[in-house]
Amino acid sequence: MLIEVDRVLEVKNSRIWPNVIVSPMAGVTDIAFRKLLWELADKRIGLTVSEFISVEAQPVLTPRNLQAITPFAGEKPFAVQLFGASPKKMAQAVIEVQELKPDFIEINAGCPMKAVIGRGGGSSLLKDLPRLQKMLHLSRKVLDIPLLLKTRIGWDQESINIVEVARIAEGEGVEMLTIHGRTREQAYKGLAHWPSIAKAAQSVKIPVIGNGDIATAEGARQRLQQYPELAGVSVGLALMHNPWLMAQVADLWSGLPVKVPGAMDLQQMFQRYMDLLIENGYTMDSLAGRLKQLVARILRFIEPDIYDIRHEILTSTHTAELLDKLWHFLEKEYKYRGCVFVPGRIKNLNGAGSTTIEE
Ligand SMILES: Cc1cc2nc3c(=O)[nH]c(=O)nc-3n(C[C@H](O)[C@H](O)[C@H](O)COP(=O)(O)O)c2cc1C
Repeated sequence: MLIEVDRVLEVKNSRIWPNVIVSPMAGVTDIAFRKLLWELADKRIGLTVSEFISVEAQPVLTPRNLQAITPFAGEKPFAVQLFGASPKKMAQAVIEVQELKPDFIEINAGCPMKAVIGRGGGSSLLKDLPRLQKMLHLSRKVLDIPLLLKTRIGWDQESINIVEVARIAEGEGVEMLTIHGRTREQAYKGLAHWPSIAKAAQSVKIPVIGNGDIATAEGARQRLQQYPELAGVSVGLALMHNPWLMAQVADLWSGLPVKVPGAMDLQQMFQRYMDLLIENGYTMDSLAGRLKQLVARILRFIEPDIYDIRHEILTSTHTAELLDKLWHFLEKEYKYRGCVFVPGRIKNLNGAGSTTIEE
């Protein structure tokens, strides 16, 4: 039996279509990258989330944070993500951020980074559920817009507590819960454990979004087929391998043929990304790192393998050299070598073979 994957996902008055979300990635999904995805998808993106900002130093709306949480014109619905340790500071930050009128505010209880958990934020909240509950409670009390939560399945394999977390979230008025199917101990290793996500979704009525290891639009569809209890899925790393992924999801959901980009599309996409980075404060010199980040991932998905060219491009020492080599490859070598961009060929984005958690 074919199960409908294009489920109605509404949070208060916002419709999230397609029910596939752009997962926040600090240092990647800034305004330039989100806008790139949105343009490539002809504006058909369900929900975007800002990079996270800390609530510990207040007031939180410093120029830098403000830049991180400002949407581009037309970016809607849009969620601002916050992280921190103190329930009171979180609620105070929520009051400040709410003034900017985002559609949603999301609390991060999943970040595994030492700098974040060392101070009691991110996934360390999974070890202190009373504090997480208080944080949600105080934040909900001061909010007029929906509160979202993004978390992991537990701290480590011995303490998978996502069902309890989901119930607390629902009880405190969280209106959508996104679960990354790894533990904090795993960080980004191994594979996400989707049965744990599904179990949590079965135990609450609020929409639950599953997250982890989705590599393609078809992969998103398969997860939703497999887990009818999920309201949607969220995609992170794969967007760096394939910035057209959201476009492909929207096409697949609409019954349209999924387009496969060629060399010229790649060139135009890189050019547009550079323009967007420059519009948002980067210079020709400073954007090299960001461009390399994307080039490195995308060129892994070219068939036949182009290790030699990839290495040569990525060892460029400045932007002009990088562009020279990249354009040369796309304009000359790509066709000559019979290259094709096949973003679906690697299934496990981090090279993982299996999960560490028993079924
Ligand atoms: C570089 C990087 C930065 C991330 N930053 C955030 C963040 O700021 N907030 C958050 O909730 N998750 C963050 N994540 C986690 C992703 O949103 C996502 O949950 C995780 O990568 C698993 O999904 P994926 O397999 O589709 O990438 C980050 C992940 C990466 C790789």
